[in-house]
Amino acid sequence: MYPDRVVSGMRPTGALHLGHYHGALKNWIRLQSEHPCLFFVADWHALTTHYDDPAVVERSAWDMVIDWLAAGIDPSQASIFIQSRVPEHAELHLLLSMATPLGWLERVPTYKDQIENLAGKDLATYGFLGYPLLQAADVLIYRASMVPVGEDQLPHVEMMREIARRFNHIYGREKGFEEKAMAAVRKLGSKRAKLYLELRTAYHQEGDDEALDQARAMLEDAGSLSNVDRERLFGYLQGSRKIILVEPEARLTEAARLPGLDGRKMSKSYANGIALREDRASVVKKIRTMPTDPARVRRTDPGDPARCPVWQLHEVYSDAATRDWVVKGCTSAGIGCLECKQPVVDGVLAEQEPMHERAQPYLDDPSLVRAIVADGCERALKLAQETMRDVREAMGISYT
Ligand code: TRP
Ligand code: SF4
Repeated sequence: MYPDRVVSGMRPTGALHLGHYHGALKNWIRLQSEHPCLFFVADWHALTTHYDDPAVVERSAWDMVIDWLAAGIDPSQASIFIQSRVPEHAELHLLLSMATPLGWLERVPTYKDQIENLAGKDLATYGFLGYPLLQAADVLIYRASMVPVGEDQLPHVEMMREIARRFNHIYGREKGFEEKAMAAVRKLGSKRAKLYLELRTAYHQEGDDEALDQARAMLEDAGSLSNVDRERLFGYLQGSRKIILVEPEARLTEAARLPGLDGRKMSKSYANGIALREDRASVVKKIRTMPTDPARVRRTDPGDPARCPVWQLHEVYSDAATRDWVVKGCTSAGIGCLECKQPVVDGVLAEQEPMHERAQPYLDDPSLVRAIVADGCERALKLAQETMRDVREAMGISYT
């Protein structure tokens, strides 16, 4: 089986805010110590919607990498790179496009939604329709086992899986595959060979997923197999094809959405955010001027935290004792709103403090960032080239 690997990307379309931190980066940071990770700046994806404003993309790309480093992405654990620096993504996108039915792209829910949401922009473009297919190429080219994404991206991951399956089905045919697979089965030794075939049958006839897992685990341990034979047997388990592209699994970001300054989800399009590295004075000001329970007009009016966006931030940033203090103080008009906001101000500043510190060396010396990205690009390129060799061969365009 192909090695465990995590791949995810973000579009560079402006400074990251705390919603990105709670919604995605924290998840990435956890994963980087558990698995080999590749995180990339999805600059081509940004251009699908910002094709008429490329300056934003260019400016945001390096800033976003600094934001990642500030948040705690560790370049000694994860590879950080820029999508367009690994042009193999585009080659795979093109090759996948040959066999991708238009309907698959048209029915992705984000497609019509986005066209409606960004009504001011003409998104009836070829590039925008192909967005999820490019995303599939981003992930499949690394044979990733996991893709950390938010809920909105689940249909894209589902499509990647369908694309991988279809690719293997069409192009994973190998001359004499069945015979080669059976020869590999014999190399397992008679006891394991028998078990393998039984488990395969259980999976094929009863859709028994446990049998599939068990057979896979057995193959992992089978020291007598060459890698080629092992891949064949993995492929043969599921059908009669080689596995060239791997079906990745979505890793949902479980974090609750971070509310913005107006109580709606923190989002760039609502202009209700606090940037990851926003300066202290501006953070203080933004929180101090946040709206509160509209019924609390005077200091002496009692309020209701359930109707107050500040309360939602307490739910993220405050401990139980503080939250208790808020509920009591608010409903009895015992505390004022500014007083109530202070722990949130403190919480946000405390969260940002180490981020400012981590970012500083990179701001002082941008060549450090370039070096990290160059290194990440090199690592990504090597992996992408390996996959592309197999893809070209499978599609009959390797000309060796
Ligand atoms: N579409 C993703 C988003 O908007 C960004 C992205 C591009 C991505 N390529 C990816 C995410 C590959 C995960 C894997 O958030
Ligand atoms: Fe909101 Fe706190 Fe004011 Fe109550 S006291 S309305 S929770 S800011």
